[in-house]
Amino acid sequence: MEKMKRSLSGIKPTGNLTLGNYIGALRNFKNYQDEYENFVFIADLHALTLPIDPAFLRQNTKDIVAFYLASGLDKDKTTIFLQSDVSAHSELNSILINYLYMGELSRMTQFKDKSAKMNHEAVGVGLFAYPVLMTADILLYNADVVPVGEDQTQHVELARDLVHRFNARYNKEVFVMPKAVTPKVGARIMSLSDPTKKMSKSDPKGDIFLKDEPNIIRKKIMSAVTDTGNEIIYDPVNKPGISNLLQIYSALSDITLDEAQSRFHDIHQYGEFKKIIADKVLEEIVPFQERFKEFSNPKIINEVLNQGKERASRVASRTLNKVKKTVGLYVHE
Ligand code: TYM
Repeated sequence: MEKMKRSLSGIKPTGNLTLGNYIGALRNFKNYQDEYENFVFIADLHALTLPIDPAFLRQNTKDIVAFYLASGLDKDKTTIFLQSDVSAHSELNSILINYLYMGELSRMTQFKDKSAKMNHEAVGVGLFAYPVLMTADILLYNADVVPVGEDQTQHVELARDLVHRFNARYNKEVFVMPKAVTPKVGARIMSLSDPTKKMSKSDPKGDIFLKDEPNIIRKKIMSAVTDTGNEIIYDPVNKPGISNLLQIYSALSDITLDEAQSRFHDIHQYGEFKKIIADKVLEEIVPFQERFKEFSNPKIINEVLNQGKERASRVASRTLNKVKKTVGLYVHE
């Protein structure tokens, strides 16, 4: 029998999750739980790369478990786990950090963006080395596919470079070559207040948070920045606001952008258009929020994490041992 392929992805508990996280990543994870061995985790060690309040981090972590369950992930089909529960992530990180270069890490867009806003002297080493840990996350599970939004594809490319380098150096296939998979529509949801910028967890004005009350979500969509004119067409350069809303509609309806555009052929008022977008978002998010509330129960969350920890640790420690032996660390009884 052919070996089942593996899928792995994670979300960082640094803030309230957004509609961008949902469309670009979260909503797609369940697609891998029947035909793949599916690993989905909470990247809590990654959340320490910028200062964060401990209570906030803990709450976000628990929320993500409940969001995973609400999105349709089944703990018996998908291994749902906490990164810091599986020490192999930190151990593989300590090994791989020697195989990536300062040059390539300094070229990472996310690092450049985040560090540009800081005093150069105070940029954390963890922020710089973030993609090394992410590479360890992926390679520990020998993931074939990594479902992510567009902003993470560069990090997966780096993991691919490392696999080439590492396997070539030891002349054997120690690691499986991973591949980023982004959704056809919705891989980069933009801010509602500035549609030339990505929607991100730290942008409260232009964000739709998954925990926002439905009336707030509707209000944010109704006041989304649009463009001049009155045509509903997909043209991200000249009409970034309308294109972003079309993208949201198209992704949530599982239809192409062309199809979405043709549905709005006869609508020439942005207000009317936005109302349809808001209805679509709420149709999906309101039941999702109800499930989220049901799953936000410490007993359920702990049970999921305990089961996940055990399964993930088993897989991860096998890979770690193989790597240790490969590089010459003495693995003994
Ligand atoms: P994070 O927590 O920033 O984002 C989680 C996922 O959401 C996607 N995403 C978006 N997609 C579309 N439009 C947006 N505006 C948008 N904003 C975010 C992200 O691309 C991501 O897929 N480094 C990762 C977490 C991570 C990881 C991993 C992922 C750590 N290790 C290993 C995959 C494999 C991160 O910070 O994602």
